Amino acid sequence: MAKVHVFDHPLIQHKLTYIRDKNTGTKEFRELVDEVATLMAYEITRELPLMEKEIDTPVCKATSNVLAGKKLGIVPILRAGIGMVEGILNLIPAAKVGHIGLYRDPETLLPVEYYIKLPSDVSERHFILVDPMLATGGSAIAATDSLKKRGAKNIQFMCLIAAPEGVKAFTEAHPDVDVYIAALDEKLDEKGYIVPGLGDAGDRLFGTK
Ligand code: URA
Repeated sequence: MAKVHVFDHPLIQHKLTYIRDKNTGTKEFRELVDEVATLMAYEITRELPLMEKEIDTPVCKATSNVLAGKKLGIVPILRAGIGMVEGILNLIPAAKVGHIGLYRDPETLLPVEYYIKLPSDVSERHFILVDPMLATGGSAIAATDSLKKRGAKNIQFMCLIAAPEGVKAFTEAHPDVDVYIAALDEKLDEKGYIVPGLGDAGDRLFGTK
Protein backbone atom coordinates (compact mmCIF):
# COMPACT_ATOMS: atom_id res chain seq x y z
CA MET A 1 0.00 0.00 0.00
CA ALA A 2 1.15 3.52 -0.73
CA LYS A 3 2.66 5.50 2.14
CA VAL A 4 1.32 8.98 2.87
CA HIS A 5 3.98 11.32 4.26
CA VAL A 6 2.90 14.56 5.94
CA PHE A 7 5.77 17.05 6.13
CA ASP A 8 5.33 18.70 9.50
CA HIS A 9 8.58 20.69 9.36
CA PRO A 10 7.96 24.02 11.15
CA LEU A 11 9.11 26.11 8.18
CA ILE A 12 6.71 24.31 5.85
CA GLN A 13 3.83 24.70 8.31
CA HIS A 14 4.61 28.40 8.91
CA LYS A 15 4.70 29.23 5.20
CA LEU A 16 1.60 27.14 4.52
CA THR A 17 -0.37 29.31 6.96
CA TYR A 18 0.38 32.42 4.85
CA ILE A 19 -0.37 30.48 1.65
CA ARG A 20 -3.82 29.64 3.05
CA ASP A 21 -4.54 33.22 4.18
CA LYS A 22 -6.90 34.94 1.72
CA ASN A 23 -5.16 38.27 2.39
CA THR A 24 -1.91 36.98 0.88
CA GLY A 25 -1.57 38.54 -2.59
CA THR A 26 -0.49 36.85 -5.82
CA LYS A 27 3.20 37.80 -5.65
CA GLU A 28 3.66 36.60 -2.08
CA PHE A 29 1.52 33.50 -2.68
CA ARG A 30 3.71 32.51 -5.63
CA GLU A 31 6.91 33.11 -3.65
CA LEU A 32 5.64 31.06 -0.71
CA VAL A 33 4.54 28.13 -2.91
CA ASP A 34 7.98 28.23 -4.50
CA GLU A 35 9.69 28.15 -1.08
CA VAL A 36 7.50 25.34 0.24
CA ALA A 37 8.12 23.31 -2.94
CA THR A 38 11.87 23.66 -2.32
CA LEU A 39 11.52 22.54 1.29
CA MET A 40 9.32 19.61 0.26
CA ALA A 41 11.80 18.64 -2.46
CA TYR A 42 14.51 18.49 0.19
CA GLU A 43 12.40 16.06 2.23
CA ILE A 44 11.16 13.99 -0.73
CA THR A 45 14.70 13.36 -2.01
CA ARG A 46 15.93 12.14 1.38
CA GLU A 47 15.85 8.47 0.31
CA LEU A 48 17.54 8.85 -3.08
CA PRO A 49 20.31 6.27 -3.47
CA LEU A 50 23.94 7.34 -3.41
CA MET A 51 27.06 5.84 -4.93
CA GLU A 52 30.70 6.38 -4.24
CA LYS A 53 32.88 8.49 -6.53
CA GLU A 54 36.65 8.85 -6.56
CA ILE A 55 37.75 12.49 -6.55
CA ASP A 56 40.83 14.56 -5.90
CA THR A 57 40.37 17.20 -3.24
CA PRO A 58 43.05 19.92 -3.11
CA VAL A 59 44.57 17.83 -0.28
CA CYS A 60 44.37 14.17 -1.35
CA LYS A 61 42.45 11.48 -3.20
CA ALA A 62 39.08 10.77 -1.62
CA THR A 63 35.97 8.70 -2.03
CA SER A 64 32.77 10.69 -1.70
CA ASN A 65 29.04 10.24 -2.47
CA VAL A 66 27.02 11.36 -5.48
CA LEU A 67 23.45 10.59 -6.46
CA ALA A 68 23.10 7.20 -8.11
CA GLY A 69 20.36 5.45 -9.93
CA LYS A 70 17.58 6.91 -11.96
CA LYS A 71 17.55 10.41 -13.39
CA LEU A 72 14.79 12.66 -12.14
CA GLY A 73 11.78 14.09 -13.91
CA ILE A 74 9.33 16.66 -12.55
CA VAL A 75 5.81 16.60 -13.97
CA PRO A 76 3.39 19.38 -13.02
CA ILE A 77 -0.30 18.85 -13.65
CA LEU A 78 -1.43 21.96 -15.55
CA ARG A 79 -1.97 24.57 -14.59
CA ALA A 80 -1.47 24.93 -10.84
CA GLY A 81 1.34 22.35 -10.72
CA ILE A 82 3.55 24.80 -12.62
CA GLY A 83 3.77 26.89 -9.45
CA MET A 84 5.79 24.17 -7.74
CA VAL A 85 8.32 23.45 -10.50
CA GLU A 86 10.89 26.22 -9.97
CA GLY A 87 11.05 25.49 -6.26
CA ILE A 88 11.97 21.87 -6.94
CA LEU A 89 14.44 22.83 -9.69
CA ASN A 90 16.25 25.03 -7.14
CA LEU A 91 17.43 21.78 -5.54
CA ILE A 92 17.51 19.47 -8.57
CA PRO A 93 18.49 21.76 -11.47
CA ALA A 94 19.34 18.90 -13.83
CA ALA A 95 15.87 17.33 -13.63
CA LYS A 96 13.86 17.19 -16.85
CA VAL A 97 10.36 18.70 -16.76
CA GLY A 98 7.34 17.09 -18.43
CA HIS A 99 3.79 18.51 -18.46
CA ILE A 100 0.36 16.93 -18.27
CA GLY A 101 -2.79 18.94 -18.98
CA LEU A 102 -6.20 17.65 -17.91
CA TYR A 103 -9.67 19.15 -17.93
CA ARG A 104 -12.84 17.82 -16.42
CA ASP A 105 -15.48 16.76 -19.00
CA PRO A 106 -18.59 18.74 -18.01
CA GLU A 107 -20.88 15.78 -18.73
CA THR A 108 -19.00 12.76 -17.44
CA LEU A 109 -17.07 14.85 -14.84
CA LEU A 110 -14.09 12.63 -15.67
CA PRO A 111 -10.62 14.09 -16.32
CA VAL A 112 -9.66 14.23 -20.01
CA GLU A 113 -6.03 14.59 -21.07
CA TYR A 114 -5.55 17.48 -23.53
CA TYR A 115 -1.77 17.79 -23.39
CA ILE A 116 1.19 15.61 -22.49
CA LYS A 117 4.88 16.08 -23.13
CA LEU A 118 7.42 13.96 -21.27
CA PRO A 119 11.17 13.35 -21.47
CA SER A 120 11.93 10.59 -24.01
CA ASP A 121 13.44 8.11 -21.54
CA VAL A 122 10.30 7.75 -19.40
CA SER A 123 10.98 4.22 -18.19
CA GLU A 124 14.44 5.17 -16.87
CA ARG A 125 13.35 8.21 -14.88
CA HIS A 126 12.20 8.70 -11.35
CA PHE A 127 9.21 11.08 -11.56
CA ILE A 128 7.93 13.61 -9.07
CA LEU A 129 4.35 14.40 -10.11
CA VAL A 130 3.18 17.71 -8.64
CA ASP A 131 -0.13 19.49 -8.09
CA PRO A 132 -0.76 21.82 -5.14
CA MET A 133 -4.17 20.32 -4.29
CA LEU A 134 -5.29 16.68 -3.97
CA ALA A 135 -9.06 17.17 -3.82
CA THR A 136 -11.15 14.32 -5.31
CA GLY A 137 -7.99 12.69 -6.62
CA GLY A 138 -9.37 12.53 -10.19
CA SER A 139 -6.59 14.56 -11.86
CA ALA A 140 -3.74 12.97 -9.91
CA ILE A 141 -5.08 9.47 -10.65
CA ALA A 142 -5.47 10.24 -14.37
CA ALA A 143 -2.02 11.89 -14.58
CA THR A 144 -0.42 8.88 -12.89
CA ASP A 145 -2.31 6.57 -15.29
CA SER A 146 -0.85 8.60 -18.18
CA LEU A 147 2.69 8.38 -16.82
CA LYS A 148 2.40 4.63 -16.26
CA LYS A 149 0.84 4.06 -19.69
CA ARG A 150 3.95 5.66 -21.21
CA GLY A 151 6.29 3.44 -19.24
CA ALA A 152 6.97 5.27 -15.95
CA LYS A 153 7.73 2.78 -13.18
CA ASN A 154 8.93 5.02 -10.43
CA ILE A 155 6.62 7.86 -9.34
CA GLN A 156 6.17 9.99 -6.24
CA PHE A 157 3.21 12.35 -5.94
CA MET A 158 3.71 15.66 -4.12
CA CYS A 159 1.08 18.25 -3.22
CA LEU A 160 0.62 21.02 -0.68
CA ILE A 161 -2.82 20.21 0.69
CA ALA A 162 -4.85 17.00 0.47
CA ALA A 163 -8.41 16.08 1.38
CA PRO A 164 -8.98 12.67 2.98
CA GLU A 165 -11.27 11.77 0.05
CA GLY A 166 -8.46 12.42 -2.45
CA VAL A 167 -5.86 10.52 -0.43
CA LYS A 168 -8.17 7.49 -0.22
CA ALA A 169 -9.04 7.52 -3.93
CA PHE A 170 -5.42 8.05 -5.03
CA THR A 171 -3.82 5.44 -2.78
CA GLU A 172 -6.45 2.87 -3.77
CA ALA A 173 -5.92 3.58 -7.49
CA HIS A 174 -2.11 3.69 -7.25
CA PRO A 175 -0.94 1.70 -4.22
CA ASP A 176 2.64 1.73 -5.56
CA VAL A 177 2.92 5.56 -5.56
CA ASP A 178 3.81 7.28 -2.30
CA VAL A 179 2.11 10.59 -1.53
CA TYR A 180 3.91 13.58 0.04
CA ILE A 181 1.81 16.40 1.47
CA ALA A 182 2.31 19.47 3.63
CA ALA A 183 -1.15 19.20 5.22
CA LEU A 184 -4.04 16.78 5.39
CA ASP A 185 -7.18 18.91 5.66
CA GLU A 186 -10.65 18.16 6.95
CA LYS A 187 -12.86 17.47 3.93
CA LEU A 188 -14.18 18.58 0.54
CA ASP A 189 -17.10 20.98 0.38
CA GLU A 190 -20.08 20.57 -1.98
CA LYS A 191 -18.21 22.48 -4.75
CA GLY A 192 -15.16 20.24 -4.49
CA TYR A 193 -12.99 22.78 -2.61
CA ILE A 194 -10.72 21.52 0.14
CA VAL A 195 -11.76 22.76 3.61
CA PRO A 196 -10.09 24.80 5.05
CA GLY A 197 -7.74 24.67 2.04
CA LEU A 198 -6.51 27.77 0.24
CA GLY A 199 -9.17 28.36 -2.42
CA ASP A 200 -8.37 27.83 -6.09
CA ALA A 201 -4.63 27.26 -6.29
CA GLY A 202 -4.41 28.12 -10.02
CA ASP A 203 -6.29 31.40 -9.61
CA ARG A 204 -4.24 32.41 -6.60
CA LEU A 205 -0.96 31.56 -8.34
CA PHE A 206 -1.75 33.32 -11.59
CA GLY A 207 -3.98 36.13 -10.34
CA THR A 208 -7.02 34.98 -12.33
CA LYS A 209 -10.60 34.42 -11.28
N1 URA B 1 -8.37 22.65 -6.58
C1 URA B 1 -8.06 23.82 -5.99
O1 URA B 1 -7.36 24.65 -6.55
N2 URA B 1 -8.55 24.06 -4.74
C2 URA B 1 -9.32 23.19 -4.07
O2 URA B 1 -9.69 23.45 -2.94
C3 URA B 1 -9.63 21.96 -4.71
C4 URA B 1 -9.15 21.72 -5.96
